[in-house]
Amino acid sequence: MKLQIFLFLLFLPAVMILASCEKEGGEQKHKVSRHQSDESHNAGQNCISCHKEGGGGEGWFTAAATVYDSSFAQVYPNATIKLYSGPNGTGTLKHVIEVDAKGNFYTTEALDFGTGLYPAVEGATGTNYMSFSITTGECASCHGVSTNKIWAR
Ligand code: HEC
Ligand code: HEC
Repeated sequence: MKLQIFLFLLFLPAVMILASCEKEGGEQKHKVSRHQSDESHNAGQNCISCHKEGGGGEGWFTAAATVYDSSFAQVYPNATIKLYSGPNGTGTLKHVIEVDAKGNFYTTEALDFGTGLYPAVEGATGTNYMSFSITTGECASCHGVSTNKIWAR
């Protein structure tokens, strides 16, 4: 009995260290949306209000939001988000994020916004370009709040 308690106390710190590492790994987990994937949720909400350091969401997103069709009532699945260094698809294509089957896109990858990147949303029949550049991937801090929802054609 005594030996068991001794062994338990001996290994307790190791178990605690392992558990905390696992937790840290969970929060930092690498998550990127893909065409056809369906692991996301909460369409239309500001993903990054939760998916940020201390926000409780699994993975801290550097860009995330939901894409709708032209009715703004239905989500538009499997579109593609592109971030360019210049307006209207000019300059360098810096980042590509695939929208999933639920119309949501998200990434935990470090995005290099520099002095600003111009978003574009590529749908099946065309591309919509945002006319000015952004330095944050929190698209839903504006879209669905102070301007239209993001949409694809
Ligand atoms: C209200 C807080 C909140 C919002 C808003 C939110 N999430 Fe989450 N999300 C969570 C939490 C908590 C988890 C972990 C538990 C779970 O899976 O429900 C999670 C998990 C996830 C996962 C991982 C699922 C898995 O199985 O690995 C993805 C992907 C995800 N969220 C994407 C999104 C996207 C995209 C948005 C915005 C459209 C979003 N979330 C909005 C809190 C949120
Ligand atoms: C600072 C606020 C803000 C942020 C952040 C933002 N947008 Fe925008 N976006 C706007 C405004 C305002 C417009 C309308 C004027 C325009 O087209 O430039 C717009 C327009 C657009 C358009 C063109 C829509 C159309 O009808 O042609 C697309 C596409 C777009 N945004 C995508 C995105 C994506 C994707 C993100 C995140 C990576 C994002 N935006 C982040 C404010 C923002």
